[in-house]
Amino acid sequence: MAGRCHVIVIGPQGSGKGTQAARVAPLLRLVHVATGDLFRQLMTRDDELAREVRSYYDRGALVPDELTLRVLLARLDELEREQGDQYRGALLDGYPRNLAQAEALDRVLTERGDVIAAVVHLVVPREVLIERLSGRLICPTCGATYHVRFSPPRVAGICDHCGGALMQRSDDTPEAIARRLETYEQQTAPLLDYYRARDLVIDIDGNRPIDVVTRDLLVALESRLAHNPCRSS
Ligand code: AP5
Ligand code: MG
Repeated sequence: MAGRCHVIVIGPQGSGKGTQAARVAPLLRLVHVATGDLFRQLMTRDDELAREVRSYYDRGALVPDELTLRVLLARLDELEREQGDQYRGALLDGYPRNLAQAEALDRVLTERGDVIAAVVHLVVPREVLIERLSGRLICPTCGATYHVRFSPPRVAGICDHCGGALMQRSDDTPEAIARRLETYEQQTAPLLDYYRARDLVIDIDGNRPIDVVTRDLLVALESRLAHNPCRSS
């Protein structure tokens, strides 16, 4: 039996990776796995590892590859134990972000007998990204994402899902945003060619209303996943 079918979402900061992944993953029997969310969870602890991650995260720098891979693999192993055959694979949001991470991912997926079914590329112009990031609010309790104008909560400052108090992310400062976008251009965008050579990339115009992007993504991914022999498809 074939292993898991994973999908990768690539796009600059603010392109809607987290927003879209949270919506489409359950509808496709994928589990949303975001390395940024895993780090935000880890940083709520008061220990040496949390302090180390924070020293990169808050200034918008990449966390070292070896540590990031360890955190990702721990989550994938946990999913295997918890979900059994209930899910097809992971919807990877924020991993890989450089060539070394992409090569490491290929190695570990081969060892597991898993495949990458598709790589979604969310295309959004830079000026729109800045506007989105500066109005973003997140729920630190359940991880839900909002925007003060484009996707406001029903009650200002309160999470619709869990009632938690919404806040800005510590890396949504102008300095950290600039650094994250620069790192994206230099290290992450070149991965698109790496995956285009394998005919995996689906370009999606992310500069449209959230529901419209979700609908396009679902159609594109349903068809890709239908052609992959994944476990529990
Ligand atoms: P991570 O959490 O992955 O953040 P990021 O890459 O900076 O991306 P964002 O989460 O900012 O953007 P998004 O595309 O998810 O946008 P969203 O959906 O929220 O990583 C954070 C940090 O963790 C990194 O800087 C690094 O330190 C570390 N890290 C993580 N992975 C790592 C790795 N692999 N290696 C090393 N370090 C790693 O949307 C943004 C806003 O826009 C929201 O307010 C939303 O409501 C709104 N919005 C979304 N879509 C639309 C739309 N269509 N129209 C209008 N508004 C919209
Ligand atoms: Mg995100």
